[in-house]
Amino acid sequence: MSEYDRYYNFSAGPAALPLPALEEAARDLVCYPNAGASVLELSHRGKVIDGIIKEAEARLRRILSIPESYHVMFLQGGATTQFSMVPVNFLDANSTAVYLEQGTWSKKAIAEAKRVGNVEVAWSDKDNNFTRVPADNEYEVRPDAKYFHITSNETIHGVEFHRDPKSNGVPLVCDASSDFLGRPIDITKYGLVYAGAQKNIGPAGVTVAIMSDDFYKKLIEDDRRPIMMNYKTHVENHSLYNTCPVFAIYMVGLVLKWLEEEKGGIAGIYKDNLAKAELLYKAIDESDGFYKGHAAVDSRSIMNVTWRTTSDELDKEFAKAAEAQHMLGLKGHRSVGGIRASIYNATSIEAVEALVEFMAKFKKEH
Ligand SMILES: Cc1ncc(COP(=O)(O)O)c(C=O)c1O
Repeated sequence: MSEYDRYYNFSAGPAALPLPALEEAARDLVCYPNAGASVLELSHRGKVIDGIIKEAEARLRRILSIPESYHVMFLQGGATTQFSMVPVNFLDANSTAVYLEQGTWSKKAIAEAKRVGNVEVAWSDKDNNFTRVPADNEYEVRPDAKYFHITSNETIHGVEFHRDPKSNGVPLVCDASSDFLGRPIDITKYGLVYAGAQKNIGPAGVTVAIMSDDFYKKLIEDDRRPIMMNYKTHVENHSLYNTCPVFAIYMVGLVLKWLEEEKGGIAGIYKDNLAKAELLYKAIDESDGFYKGHAAVDSRSIMNVTWRTTSDELDKEFAKAAEAQHMLGLKGHRSVGGIRASIYNATSIEAVEALVEFMAKFKKEH
């Protein structure tokens, strides 16, 4: 083995990126073709970067069939900043937003909204340590709510919506950070979809936000709102109010190119993702109780697979032994423990096959 060998990567984010995207970036890092400089060295207002940003947006629009009436923004501050930006733009002390409490990330989103206005939690799975998503008939969205916030995939608990949930005509806002581009999504059902890039879209440093013009028009005007926290700033300036994260957007463009040209877009990658998830859940289900999945079967995430062995000590040993076999990032999140394999778009079926083989061997030895 060489010190440059790439291991199987099951990290939750930053996560595996497609090799062709990394190779193209490496080739162009010192000098972008015919630009005389690296992408890292060019003005965000120049022709080259402008072309890169426009192409990334056009690809994203094609891949997800995003209508013209939606604004696409490349923002900074991660999904965590969106937890604040959403209420700061659409909620005030006299109005209410409805949230689902589905796990660690939605809890954080709720806490931020509570700083700004009234929050109604329509459904919570807290008492079960977040093992599933609700059915449409398990929650109500009051019709006067400013928006209804969901998390399509709870990265830490490994719990995912496999549908676009009902919202009673209230604008649906979705934190899609960890399953964006991993499965089909009907954008027209949403007022806003946002996602930090560092799982399925590219490197850390850029956050994608897709907002319907209808929802955008409901933004509360407030001169005291900090300019960078105002969606209007980013919509009116096409994400170029200040220096945008040029390199991160460039990488997003390369990942989208790989997805569109090599993986068959969402339909193609979704098929691969289902196959990977099926393989891994089968290994858990057929382990005679040695491995126990965390999520309820019909809420199982196809991006973050979470499970435990028979003890906390053995969970830790599993992750350690896997790392020795060149499998990265299998330790569960520090807040819940256990084991988690993130099998995002760029994690190959070979990686999952190797993991399943390792699981069988580990079970036999323990
Ligand atoms: C579902 C979800 N939302 C929000 C976040 C926070 O993202 P960031 O670290 O980009 O702020 C994460 C990070 O893992 C996440 O998985």
